[in-house]
Amino acid sequence: MSETSTDPVMSAAQFDRLRKIIYDRSGIHFPDNKKYVLESRLGRRLQELEIEDYDQYISFLTMGPYKDDEFQEMFNKITINETSFFRNEPQLDVFEKQVLPRIIEARAATKRLRLWSAACSSGEEPYSLAMMVHRCLGLRLMDWRVEILGTDISEKVLTSAMEGRYTDYSMRTTSPMVKSRYFKQDGPYWNVDPQVKQMVHFEVHNLKDRLAAKRFGKWDVIFCRNVMIYFDDAMREQVVQTFHDQLENDGVLFIGHSESLRTLKVPFEQMPTPQGFCYAKQGCKQWMTKAA
Ligand SMILES: C[S@@+](CC[C@H](N)C(=O)[O-])C[C@H]1O[C@@H](n2cnc3c(N)ncnc32)[C@H](O)[C@@H]1O
Repeated sequence: MSETSTDPVMSAAQFDRLRKIIYDRSGIHFPDNKKYVLESRLGRRLQELEIEDYDQYISFLTMGPYKDDEFQEMFNKITINETSFFRNEPQLDVFEKQVLPRIIEARAATKRLRLWSAACSSGEEPYSLAMMVHRCLGLRLMDWRVEILGTDISEKVLTSAMEGRYTDYSMRTTSPMVKSRYFKQDGPYWNVDPQVKQMVHFEVHNLKDRLAAKRFGKWDVIFCRNVMIYFDDAMREQVVQTFHDQLENDGVLFIGHSESLRTLKVPFEQMPTPQGFCYAKQGCKQWMTKAA
């Protein structure tokens, strides 16, 4: 394919096949009106591979010798990775001021705290959680075992998460106080403080894979924000059920501000917090009511 050639055209039938393949593998749902989105994202990939039409690409993706690598390349291209430090501050305030102190109190005997940021993109969310834990525990941090895991389906975003190096765009909702306390400026970049950095680790994890989530064990708090909008109800239900299985009984689930579990049959109830959407396992939210 020459440099000047335009993106290949995706027929309706090719769109249907591709979106089924993508859905089966990841739960990401491309509705009928989003064909142009898939076409523009994958068009670039076909050009890189010098593949001229979508039938060839589908064969390469599903039957080629590098099919697992190609799925990864495809997810790097088709996922939306928008994020920032301290995204949706009112919701994070609920985490820091209400949920975290209660969990810390409840774990006083074990001094173990486990937080999962699922679909964390380039790491701004789990690092923000680490900064809040650092603020909350203060000097007590030395006596605690804090584990914060960031996972995503895209290896590319996780590579940049592990670097912990950000531009102003990621810092657009970060206060000057947090910037000076938890980052070191290096020209146009902001490097996450090494003490915060070592509190977080990253792994590739596909939310479609229920069994794989078991390897992580149980969590005190799970954040899964701004990804379920790309799933249909069946996938949302499956993912939220996995979170239910993987949360401690008094654990808390945070979802995106514009997302809701209302239409799903899942055993969670919304907590009585004014700003942030967070959920407790059914019958287990009493301790939170006391705090509110
Ligand atoms: C918009 S970002 C949200 C980042 C962060 N949670 C936030 O709210 O700022 C959505 C992320 O979900 C990831 N994602 C999409 N489908 C996924 C799946 N099936 N499993 C894991 N991650 C997925 C994308 O790669 C992307 O990085």
